[in-house]
Amino acid sequence: MSMLQDIQEVFYSQEDLAQIANRLGHQISHDYKDRNLLIVSVLKGSVIFMADLMRSITIPCKIDFITASSYHAGTESSGKVSVTDELSVKDVHGYDILIVEDILDTGRTLQKLSDIFNKKGAASVKICTLLDKPERRDPSVRIKPTYVGAEVRNEFVVGYGLDFDQKYRNLPFIGILKPEVYNTETQNEEESH
Ligand code: XMP
Ligand code: MG
Repeated sequence: MSMLQDIQEVFYSQEDLAQIANRLGHQISHDYKDRNLLIVSVLKGSVIFMADLMRSITIPCKIDFITASSYHAGTESSGKVSVTDELSVKDVHGYDILIVEDILDTGRTLQKLSDIFNKKGAASVKICTLLDKPERRDPSVRIKPTYVGAEVRNEFVVGYGLDFDQKYRNLPFIGILKPEVYNTETQNEEESH
């Protein structure tokens, strides 16, 4: 059985996504020239975007990973965010941290991560998100993404790292699933992004 039969519509093709990663990678290489760049990928959703983005970055940098989780019921986040892993870079003083995320939704995850790195004394903390859903932003969230691949409307998207029920991350494009797929599989458990 192929995953493709669950797809209703493709929003961003492989070519679109390659272009986005390239554009942002070049911008970041320019902006962080002569800085001490540490790119932090938020697992698991950003992993494919991270792999493409970092190969478009032409300046020296370090990479690291962090895991953030929230409770999900189907496609709705509860708003409780927990950070379950620490960076392998223990002392972030002097690092210009760029957090790489798959999608900025309510913004609570990136608010929490930005607060953590700022409190730990990073030289700067900025955000690069592949997708942004500005309509969904929690009014209490103060962070703004510096780099945005594309804005999406308020629809649940999958592929290129993004999941539904931990599946579809391996689709090479981003799209939406047929409504019957969302309706038959609802769940209520802790999920890694
Ligand atoms: P917040 O709300 O904290 O959450 O900005 C961001 C996380 O929510 C998940 N998310 C999605 N995942 N398709 C997905 O596969 C979506 O359309 C979507 N919207 C939000 C995602 O894990 C992201 O890191
Ligand atoms: Mg997710």
